Amino acid sequence: MEMQIKTTRTTNSKLKDIDFSTIPLGRTFTDHMFICEYEDGKWNNPRIEPLELIPTHPAAMALHYGQAIFEGMKATVGNNNTPLLFRPEENAKRFNHSAARMGMPAVPEKLFVEAVKQIVGIEQAWIPPQEGSALYLRPFMYADEPFIGMRAATSYKFIVICSPAGPFFTKKIRLYAETEYIRAADGGTGEAKAAGNYAAAILPTEKAKAKGYDQVLWLDANEHKYVQEVGTMNIFFKVAGKFITPSTNGSILKGITRDSVITLLKDKGFEVEERPITIDEVIAYSKEGKLEEAFGTGTAVAIAMVEAIGYEDEVITLPETNPVSIDVKNTLDEIKVQKRDDIHGWIIPVDVEEKVG
Ligand SMILES: Cc1ncc(COP(=O)(O)O)c(C=O)c1O
Repeated sequence: MEMQIKTTRTTNSKLKDIDFSTIPLGRTFTDHMFICEYEDGKWNNPRIEPLELIPTHPAAMALHYGQAIFEGMKATVGNNNTPLLFRPEENAKRFNHSAARMGMPAVPEKLFVEAVKQIVGIEQAWIPPQEGSALYLRPFMYADEPFIGMRAATSYKFIVICSPAGPFFTKKIRLYAETEYIRAADGGTGEAKAAGNYAAAILPTEKAKAKGYDQVLWLDANEHKYVQEVGTMNIFFKVAGKFITPSTNGSILKGITRDSVITLLKDKGFEVEERPITIDEVIAYSKEGKLEEAFGTGTAVAIAMVEAIGYEDEVITLPETNPVSIDVKNTLDEIKVQKRDDIHGWIIPVDVEEKVG
């Protein structure tokens, strides 16, 4: 499928006003967006144009029934200043997995990847120069058909916007194992990156923060026993020399960082068990001195070390040093900027000359 993406460039770039050393997270957006509309059973008029407000009908179905999904990815800069993407086809696949669960149309994988490549090609000067920073990309789709009634919408928008993200100075995180609220139940939407999943997580997260924690550690919906994942991350535990991460069972988001980290840990000779793990087990390992490291994985921070986990009346504290977590984080960070061989073929260079014009 030959993809014609029409480009209209801004005549008034905001780039000159940006100080990359002080960009507030998630509040600064680049000059352009990719946008196309779904109607009459197909995606029409893919284009890149100056980012602007989008008129929305008050009856747009996403506002009422929540058909809205998104992805999160990052563009970095590699050798010779080439913009790079990390496993973008995995985001395209997950996007369509989310779309299918929410009764939304698929975006052809080629269109998704091409949209992301071309917007990165145009906005490459917005990739912050400091080590550890990146251009955060937010592809999303929502139902914009004006209609009051419960059924799948017939019209949608698929958009990609970009936001420069400065270096993340990742502090260790404190997790609160939640026993009252749940994130996802069997048969629900936990495996989809659906906007509503995040809406439902806001109150429990605020409550966890008020108790002195950074994020919720979600437990399963049936028994409040099995560890699922963290706010916007998957979770790994290092127990007596090997790693354990909850198996993805339909109610956990299949993180692309999770998958990459499993591969890297195995490359480094570690055994990685993907299996159900209870919070009681984690507490017991900690008390026995076997819980050596714990970290969350996700696109935003790559790897965030866990400092402590609160569960009911107990708080367990992780050992201060986490050498393997740091090593795997460095490996992943270095692959993303071509400072280390990309033996798994995860890095996709954006061929700017060829794609942008
Ligand atoms: C709920 C949830 N779990 C896990 C992740 C980690 O996924 P990834 O590594 O693909 O960013 C994310 C972030 O996308 C998330 O929102």
